[in-house]
Amino acid sequence: MSRKKVSIIGAGNVGAKATYYIAEKVIADLVMVDIAEGTTRAKALDFLHAGPLRRYDGPIRGTTDYAEIAGSDVVVITAGLARRPGMDRMDLLKANAEIVKTASLNTARYAPNATVIVVSNPLDVMCHVALRATGFAIRRVVGMAGILDSTRFRYFVAEELGCALSAVHAMVLGGHGDQMVPLPRFTTVGGIPITELMAPATVARLVDRTRNGGAEIVGYLKTGSAYYAPAAAAAEMVEAILTDRKHFAPCAAYLRGEYGIEDLFIGVPVILGRNGIEKIVELELTEEEKQGLRASADAVRKGVDDLNTFFRAT
Ligand code: NAI
Ligand code: 2OP
Repeated sequence: MSRKKVSIIGAGNVGAKATYYIAEKVIADLVMVDIAEGTTRAKALDFLHAGPLRRYDGPIRGTTDYAEIAGSDVVVITAGLARRPGMDRMDLLKANAEIVKTASLNTARYAPNATVIVVSNPLDVMCHVALRATGFAIRRVVGMAGILDSTRFRYFVAEELGCALSAVHAMVLGGHGDQMVPLPRFTTVGGIPITELMAPATVARLVDRTRNGGAEIVGYLKTGSAYYAPAAAAAEMVEAILTDRKHFAPCAAYLRGEYGIEDLFIGVPVILGRNGIEKIVELELTEEEKQGLRASADAVRKGVDDLNTFFRAT
């Protein structure tokens, strides 16, 4: 079997950690591309030094040169800026749209057969940038957020019940923002929905904490956002695609009528395998859940409209 190759664009907190997690899975050769040459080379070397102790061999490259991603099976885009003082949401959207566009154009040029996993924020909008700039088939561009938001929900449920994390499965739909839609009916402990195990007020509190899961961590970190769980989520998606695992999980997918939503990336349950998104799974939602998903989709669409305004103006 030929060796697989994964490239990670952006070797910051999420990108470097994701590279390390993928290295530990021993499933692919790895390349990190970042504008910060020294630190990116340093991280690749450091990961290789850890290899004999953590039982992987490499190769792992750190570079500024996109040509080195040639032939990648999967490209993970984590490059981006964090919001800085004086920058509003639109400034951030513009800056990251330019960065994700460059990464995507280079992906199309050097790795035309890759599946792209987008991580950079605002996530759902950046998926649109990647889709347009690569020109790839819609099922080969997928966003990482639902797995992260669900794993946070899983943890909060396990903590509340005092049970093993592994017993909990959770489902969170929608955009990766305040209006994401955690689904308690489809969140289970040992197969039992949490709506059967907790009072409605407790469920509502955990749903709220899930929606604010990223902000809670930013509140502690002050100068950055979460990266261990985001990197683990991205690595899991890479593994599902490379090993054709047919993994069932929520990811940002381009919808064309599914869930009554047209032409928009948003988080829904999918099956991930060798061909990227192999299937979008449509759940039967209650009226309240549908309303939540519509509101979340409206928020994402507003971001896409802002993006279109920006690109028309440039
Ligand atoms: P970070 O600041 O640690 O890393 C970003 C990296 O991007 C830096 O190393 C920087 O040098 C690099 N970069 C900037 N411009 C570049 C360019 N033009 N080409 C190549 N590399 C470039 O940030 P972190 O924590 O790694 O987050 C990365 C992105 O992922 C952010 O947009 C963040 O909001 C997003 N994120 C998304 C999550 C999700 O659930 N989708 C979860 C966590 C983070
Ligand atoms: C998170 O949810 C910042 O999107 C990132 O942690």
